Amino acid sequence: MKKIRSPKQITTANAKKALRYYAAFSTEFVEDAIELLGLKPGSVILDPWNGSGTTTLVASQLGIRSIGYDLNPAVKIIAKARMANDKQLIKATSYLKAFKFTKRKLVTDLPMFDCWFNKSSIHALADLKFYVNTIEDTVVRSLIDVAVVAAIREQLIDFKSKNPAWIKVAKQESERISLNDQYLLESSLQQLLKFKGALGSYSTIATLDVANAQNLPLPDESIDAVITSPPYCTRIDYAVATMVELAWLGMTHEQVRRLRLNLIGTPTVRKASLDLVAQLPISVLSLLSEIKNHPSKASSTYYYKTFSQFFSSMQSSFRELHRVIRPDGQLCLVVQDSFYKEIPIHLSLLFQDMLNLVGFELIDSHLYPAGGLNLIHGHKSINEVALTCRKLA
Ligand SMILES: C[S@@+](CC[C@H](N)C(=O)[O-])C[C@H]1O[C@@H](n2cnc3c(N)ncnc32)[C@H](O)[C@@H]1O
Repeated sequence: MKKIRSPKQITTANAKKALRYYAAFSTEFVEDAIELLGLKPGSVILDPWNGSGTTTLVASQLGIRSIGYDLNPAVKIIAKARMANDKQLIKATSYLKAFKFTKRKLVTDLPMFDCWFNKSSIHALADLKFYVNTIEDTVVRSLIDVAVVAAIREQLIDFKSKNPAWIKVAKQESERISLNDQYLLESSLQQLLKFKGALGSYSTIATLDVANAQNLPLPDESIDAVITSPPYCTRIDYAVATMVELAWLGMTHEQVRRLRLNLIGTPTVRKASLDLVAQLPISVLSLLSEIKNHPSKASSTYYYKTFSQFFSSMQSSFRELHRVIRPDGQLCLVVQDSFYKEIPIHLSLLFQDMLNLVGFELIDSHLYPAGGLNLIHGHKSINEVALTCRKLA
């Protein structure tokens, strides 16, 4: 059986770092998975948890049609920007160079920026956003979006938290800062320069959109293969991790609150999200019962609920993948095992049982030692695993 190179990102070049998403897998992994699954131009590949779009990027480079969905609109701009070519980068740079702040009346509402900025700064940001929204080429627009967000983040140093996936917010007016708008433009241009050398020159045949993996806007049996890495079972709040992007996209506080609730793997608990637990395989039910009976604080309440919610949402996503993949179609999934306290969570084994239950059979599993996690927990058996499965006809 052919080996698949590791899903760990190994690219350290500055240019590629500029368009990097910390939850991404490597382009090398996707290249090998495409070859292993025998996918060719004419096939259709889906990534229902597309993140920064590694699957859709590599598929496009190989001339294969692909569809990438993610529930978080913030990551769609990264996935789109990664599709840009050098000509689009030149266009993005000249658009940004031509912009002048006019401080006109508020034309685009960016309500979430009140988390950090005072009113006149929000007006300046809205002025720039209005201009960017008039750019027709959505890839050029996404390049500017990513660059401006990176530049805004540079001005939010005071709101940084020790946890890299978290950002603090102003609690009162006096904490809201004033934007240095000329500096913002200059540093956005600097950010664009970083993309030089990271971009390709292939034609894009990928569809990128916002959708929920539990309810995909696709006809039955329309997909040849899925290559993906689902959300982790580690309660990372991706909506907060991308709050600046969401603010720049004009989302409201209420929309972000709903996104936080609906992302899989979220630390927030939805009401009535536990209904599907009974449909999970015995191996998952017994893990949930171990968590529920753990003596530590909140195990039987909050933690039991978040884990139940994670597994129920994943099970309904697997059911949805089974619906959209054609008979005999394949699924390649990267999974990281983890821990709850001292209880090991062998996610790769649990996912195999869950996939089996909805009608997939395992073809093979490829192991990659997860160094960091092993060191933290002093265990040798915790791995990152790529599972390949086939939909039973
Ligand atoms: C591990 S990341 C995928 C990273 C991706 N492979 C890449 O290379 O960037 C998992 C993604 O799942 C997304 N996600 C979480 N819940 C979702 C849902 N219900 N539907 C669709 N996407 C969801 C998250 O926003 C996150 O981007």
